[in-house]
Amino acid sequence: MPNSKIDELLVASIGGGGLSQEQMVQILSFRLFGNKLGFLRLENMPIGNVPLTPASRNTLNKPDDVSEKCLLQATAILGEPIGYAQESNGSIINNFFPHQSLSRATTSDSYDTELDLHTENAFHAIQPDFLILLCLRQDPLAEAVTYVTSIDAILDHLSSEDISFFFTEPYNFLSDYCFSEKNCRIDIGKKQTVFYGDVRTPLFRFDPHFMVARSHLAQAQLQRLREIAWEVKHSVTLQAGDLLIIDNRKTAHARSQFTALFDGSDRWIPPGVRLVVASADLSKR
Ligand SMILES: [Fe+2]
Repeated sequence: MPNSKIDELLVASIGGGGLSQEQMVQILSFRLFGNKLGFLRLENMPIGNVPLTPASRNTLNKPDDVSEKCLLQATAILGEPIGYAQESNGSIINNFFPHQSLSRATTSDSYDTELDLHTENAFHAIQPDFLILLCLRQDPLAEAVTYVTSIDAILDHLSSEDISFFFTEPYNFLSDYCFSEKNCRIDIGKKQTVFYGDVRTPLFRFDPHFMVARSHLAQAQLQRLREIAWEVKHSVTLQAGDLLIIDNRKTAHARSQFTALFDGSDRWIPPGVRLVVASADLSKR
């Protein structure tokens, strides 16, 4: 969907996205107060008529915009939707489904490989505050699992020395964005700590495959943190109509491998949207 249509859809979605009063309250409460899980899952959302899962983003053939409006109504409560030039040509609404040529790629277009825990775009000057996924179709064998691990759960397993280590030790976060596409590994000099913000309620950025430690100790601590993060993760099996909102400032997420059949029945997670909170001061990012 071209971004030129987003404003029009956003206006239409505010009063007509299909969210109930109760669901709007849940989303607003999550934005304001969060929760220990770091994510909110809402079920049975309106998704309209869903055609066969396409093989390419050029052949989406969606007959209506019910799911887009539902998603945009939720985004309006959370913040400002953003896109990145390197992903789906900068599209604000992204469609994720298996691509045969990318079966083992480390992107959301893969299926035959696990995507390891990562905070979305942890290297980026404008890191999204929230991610929203709306599931249009579960994978045919119901194997795909989304994992979310939260700093609030991780902290229970760390000493005060560990916490202050991750507040002060800089890691070099590599960029996986090239100029116009993904899957690069570029040193952009982005040295930053894993924990940041208020020491009483830390925020968290974590992408071990794209973080370079400056010492053996820092590497060992990173590995230990990864093990703890996996230990305390929560598993979510998304079904059609499930809306998953992830607080990207307090979590890392991952996805299991799953089977793709390429017969129109494959997993389809559109639209995925990244958001920055409306009140955020971008000059500080
Ligand atoms: Fe991701």
